[in-house]
Amino acid sequence: MTLAADPPTEFVAFWNDTLADKFERYRDILMNGLSHHSEVWLNEVQIAPGTKIVDVGCGWGDTARALARKTGPKGHVLGLDCVEQFLRRARADAETEGLDNVSFVAADVQTYPFDASFDMCFSRFGMMFFENPVAAMRNILRALKPGGELVFIVWRSKAENVWAYVPETVVKEFLPLPGEDARTCGPGPFSMSEPDVVRKQLEIAGFDDIRFEATDGPVTVGGSLRNAIDFQLALGPAGEVFREAGALAEERRDEIETALRDALAPYQQGESIVLPSASWRVSARKPG
Ligand SMILES: C[S@@+](CC[C@H](N)C(=O)[O-])C[C@H]1O[C@@H](n2cnc3c(N)ncnc32)[C@H](O)[C@@H]1O
Repeated sequence: MTLAADPPTEFVAFWNDTLADKFERYRDILMNGLSHHSEVWLNEVQIAPGTKIVDVGCGWGDTARALARKTGPKGHVLGLDCVEQFLRRARADAETEGLDNVSFVAADVQTYPFDASFDMCFSRFGMMFFENPVAAMRNILRALKPGGELVFIVWRSKAENVWAYVPETVVKEFLPLPGEDARTCGPGPFSMSEPDVVRKQLEIAGFDDIRFEATDGPVTVGGSLRNAIDFQLALGPAGEVFREAGALAEERRDEIETALRDALAPYQQGESIVLPSASWRVSARKPG
C-alpha cells in the first residue's frame, strides 16, 4: 500500500530518486552499522503480547520484523517509510519468515493520517530527516494511545561518530562545502545529536518523561579499504560533499581516494575498516 504525500517534499523526493539505490548498493554495510545501535534495546525490551507498534522510517523492515516477533499474533507492527523500494524487500522478508502481523506502507511520517491506536512508536535512525521535526513528532503523538511510548535512536555528534567525521574532513580538504541550494536528505543524520534541542522539540510536540541513553560501538564501513572508500564517497557527510561538487569531485577523485586511503588505513582490522560510532536512544511518553 502506498500513501504518497502529494506532492512529496523535496527531501522525500531525494530519498527516492538519489539515496534509495545507493542504500541498496551498500545494504550490508548499513545494516551492520545501524543494527549495532538497536541490538541491546531489542534484546532487553519487554513487549507485552498484543502490543500495537509503529516503526517510522523503517527502511528494509528488520526492526519492524523483530518487534512483530515480540508482540506475537495478537499484536501488530506497521512499518512506515517514504521509499516504496525499501518496503518491497521488507514485505518479502516478512513473508519469507511467515510473519502475518506486520505490514508496510509507503508514506511521509510527518503527514500520515494516524489515529490514536498505537501503544508504541519505534524508530532506528529514521527521525532525523523530517521537513519539520516538531510537526512530525506531533503527528507521532497523534498515533499513540494516552501513555504510549516513543523510542528512537539517533546519531550523537559527528565528532563522536568517527566513521563520518574522518572521511568528511578529508574530502573537505579538496572540495567546497555544499551550497545553500544543495539537494539533501532533510535536516540530516546529525540533526538530533543535541539532547537539549531534542528535549525541547519533544516537549513542544507534547511528550513528557523524556530520557536519553548513550550507546557506543565500532562500525564496519567496508570489507576492504577499496569498499570503504567507495562507501564513503557514495553516502554520509563525505558522500554529500563529493556528490555536490560534481565535475570538480571527479577531476580530483584520485587525490581524494589516496587521502581517504591514508586516513582510513589506521582503522583496518583484518580486511575490514572499523571506526567508532555513537548514538542516543531517546524515549518519551504521551501524557495520560
Ligand atoms: C537511515 S535510514 C534508517 C532505516 C531503518 N530504520 C534502519 O535502521 O535500517 C532512514 C530511513 O528514513 C526514511 N525516511 C526519511 N524521511 C522520511 C519521511 N519523511 N517519512 C518516512 N520515512 C522517511 C528513509 O527512506 C530511510 O529508509
